[in-house]
Amino acid sequence: MTQNPTQDDTQTLAPQPDLGRRKFLGTSALVGLSGAGLTLGLSACNKETAPTAAAPAAKGEATAHGPYEVAPGKLDDYYSFSSGGHSGDVRIYGLPSGRQLKSIPVFNTDNLVGWGITNESRAIMGTKPDGSLKYSTGDTHHVHQTYTDGTYDGKYFYVNDKIHSRLARIRMDTMECDRILELPNVQGFHGTFTDKRDPVDASINHTTRVFCGAEFSTPLPNDGRDLEDGGKYRAMFTCVDSESMEPRWQVLIDGNCDLVATSYDGKLAATNQYNVENGVHYEDMMAAEMDACLFFNVARIEAAVKAGKTTTIGSSRVPVVDGTRAANKDPKTALTCYVPIPKNPHGVNISPDGKYYACSGKLSPTASVIEHELVLKWFDGGLENPRDAVVAEPEIGLGPLHTGFDNKGNAYTTLFLDSQIVKWNVEAAIKSYQGDKSAKPVVDRIDVHYQPGHGFTSMGETKEADGRFFLSDNKFSKDRFLPVGPLHPETAQLIDISGDKMKLVHDHSVLSEPHDSIIVRRDIIKTRQIYDLDEFPLAVKDAKESGVFRNGKKVTVKLTSQAPSFSLREFKVKKGDEVTLILTNLDKVEDLTHGFAIPKHDINFIVSPQETKSVTFIADKPGVYWCYCTHFCHALHLEMRSRMIVEA
Ligand code: CUA
Ligand code: CA
Repeated sequence: MTQNPTQDDTQTLAPQPDLGRRKFLGTSALVGLSGAGLTLGLSACNKETAPTAAAPAAKGEATAHGPYEVAPGKLDDYYSFSSGGHSGDVRIYGLPSGRQLKSIPVFNTDNLVGWGITNESRAIMGTKPDGSLKYSTGDTHHVHQTYTDGTYDGKYFYVNDKIHSRLARIRMDTMECDRILELPNVQGFHGTFTDKRDPVDASINHTTRVFCGAEFSTPLPNDGRDLEDGGKYRAMFTCVDSESMEPRWQVLIDGNCDLVATSYDGKLAATNQYNVENGVHYEDMMAAEMDACLFFNVARIEAAVKAGKTTTIGSSRVPVVDGTRAANKDPKTALTCYVPIPKNPHGVNISPDGKYYACSGKLSPTASVIEHELVLKWFDGGLENPRDAVVAEPEIGLGPLHTGFDNKGNAYTTLFLDSQIVKWNVEAAIKSYQGDKSAKPVVDRIDVHYQPGHGFTSMGETKEADGRFFLSDNKFSKDRFLPVGPLHPETAQLIDISGDKMKLVHDHSVLSEPHDSIIVRRDIIKTRQIYDLDEFPLAVKDAKESGVFRNGKKVTVKLTSQAPSFSLREFKVKKGDEVTLILTNLDKVEDLTHGFAIPKHDINFIVSPQETKSVTFIADKPGVYWCYCTHFCHALHLEMRSRMIVEA
């Protein structure tokens, strides 16, 4: 123990391969103590690890675990990436446990990690000329990952902000947002989906585009013209380059966009439309018996863009093509195809075999099944009426919204009004539509609690749909949890869909208000535990580089953290200085994160191993300010401080 606590720690404790805890105790919590000659923290740690009589050791588990339970020390089979709604973040859950693992700040500010506080995060979020954040609110709805060969590749995922029409990208190795784009000339950016391959170039068998549907129509440009004349409002569908995060093109449409889906062959993108009426008032939006599912012919749109058959709107340079009905009457040249769907549909999802789109009625108790090949046939001039692409329209229940698929040809649709999930068979629905009276599309129903919005199956939006689980994200939890005041949590309910009958596995509570999620097999996700110093241009690579560097009123403070201390025990600035503080965490140990808070200056952020962040603030109050480590890191965490002295 005296010479090398790490080694000593491993030797004295019985090996328990399942518990990584000792590995961490032997490294992260003790790092730094070895050289300091401090045994006090060490003995406390050893005491903590020893199993006590009351708590059985991991070996002889006292509790029998159910088939779905993730036992202590075990890992979940799936990640669920779930939008946070108007909290503006994205959450990561483990499934089947339902344990919340992380909240990724995206459009919101986050006090813990310093998102919206550090200079690096503010640059991604976007600032006004005075340096303040352009927006501090956001509304995330749909999360979709990059694909390779029809399944998730673990590279990026994208999420929308409906409030300010922004698209964010999150890199999946660090689970952090790295880009945010504000779409030009649209409002109510709701549905989004990554493409799965290129429609023309067969060698591009991965995601290169992200499609974004605008739900609200506005005057174009929205600069004060056409304020009262709703007939002149229009919505657009936008294609963004998944790598550069720049808009490639936009399509002017009739009606609106809601959810978005993409085909497995890359040829079509789809959006359901609930407002073909182009209604400005609520009642107007329910006037038509038939709305639509709108298909975009990606290759033709890009050919039109290349040929310069475009306009631009306002100050935006993004090329806009005309996808309105009037301009696309000839199927053989059409960029868009409007397939009539009853009434105010919500949700469009493609089956894992790539053959069918399910578009639910919402105000009609039906799900419409649209055959992919028939839409392509219409674009080739071989199908007279777009409606003929509908090959089934089973009655499935009241308020149908979103559909997930298994790997056996079954669809699972959320029924908002019935508070149920209905399982229906696609081939049976097609036979029934063709007049086969013996075909029974609906296979099973299960109650959920209550009013489901989105629902999704494990790997269900890939060709590797595995038919194990359906997750129902419900809009009301009512009596399912302990009451916590007028604002209830939401319920997410996990349903086993592997057998003939659906089985409710459990409820877990979710903070308001998730909309959509993808359920991803854990082997697809490869995260990093340690950053690379070289990724950060400002990195303070050696504690010796620390110091206070003055340039007039602008002062740069460089410091490093290494448990249990900051490289500068104190630093001096003068009242009125604009201080930029750069902190690099030089610890290389997994899970050894430090925090940095500056009292009375509204600064708080964390730095994970080998990470660098910076903040800029005005030191406007003379005095002493104890900057301290906010993130528990070490037995001497409380002592880990640096004294900021602001001279009058
Ligand atoms: Cu460093 Cu707590
Ligand atoms: Ca309508």
